[in-house]
Amino acid sequence: MIQLFNVCKAYQRDQNALSDITLKIEKGEFVYLTGPSGAGKSTLLKLLYCAERPTRGQILVNGMNITRFGPSRIPYLRRNLGIIFQDFKLLNRRTIYENVAFPLEIQGRKRFEISKKVYQTLKSVGLEHRLNQHPLQLSGGEQQRVAVARALVVDPLILLADEPTGNLDPEVTLDIMELFKIANARGTTIVMATHDRGLINQFPRRVVSLEAGSLATDDMPFFKGQSGMTGHV
Ligand SMILES: Nc1ncnc2c1ncn2[C@@H]1O[C@H](COP(=O)(O)OP(=O)(O)O)[C@@H](O)[C@H]1O
Ligand SMILES: [Mg+2]
Repeated sequence: MIQLFNVCKAYQRDQNALSDITLKIEKGEFVYLTGPSGAGKSTLLKLLYCAERPTRGQILVNGMNITRFGPSRIPYLRRNLGIIFQDFKLLNRRTIYENVAFPLEIQGRKRFEISKKVYQTLKSVGLEHRLNQHPLQLSGGEQQRVAVARALVVDPLILLADEPTGNLDPEVTLDIMELFKIANARGTTIVMATHDRGLINQFPRRVVSLEAGSLATDDMPFFKGQSGMTGHV
């Protein structure tokens, strides 16, 4: 589903934000990307949704070699991706409905199909009654649920989330994780950058950790009471 081969990214000459990353993520996996601030988590995600280009190496996403994707081909990639950020990145002057409808409009879906899908998806995150409101009328947790709805409304093959719970309190964080779990159970591959060790312990999945741009560890955490988890391969 996602493969990186010897990927390097240097924003400035001789300063690698990522060095020689080789990584394979299978369809249906749930993978945490951890590591200290500046380790390269956001950069790795940006390479996967083509917001940045690798300096060296190759990247395959969903069977496409995106290493040198030009602007005209990026929409084909993004069609199969949902992306979620720490600061939500909602359109504050648009309604909740319009925010969630936006990716479907870009895909040129029919209006009745859009309204049905938007309603269904907002219902799945518990916000169907807020669809005429604007993002700033909602709490942070609700805004992130709207962002999750916007990411999932296209039934993405892959969900990329960059510290999606970084601004949320613990209770709301669990709500968001529940939504991710459901999406993952329905087959969406998830790559989630997070600092939050507590969260990883609560919901253990494969953990890829970066340190200063290099891959440091790649493990399936092993916890008491969970036998049979021997690693991701
Ligand atoms: N647009 C950019 N221009 C120059 N350097 C950048 C840019 N974005 C990130 N970096 C640098 O790349 C490194 C990795 O950053 P980042 O991927 O944001 O790490 P993380 O998300 O793990 O905190 C850091 O040293 C950061 O300063
Ligand atoms: Mg980051």
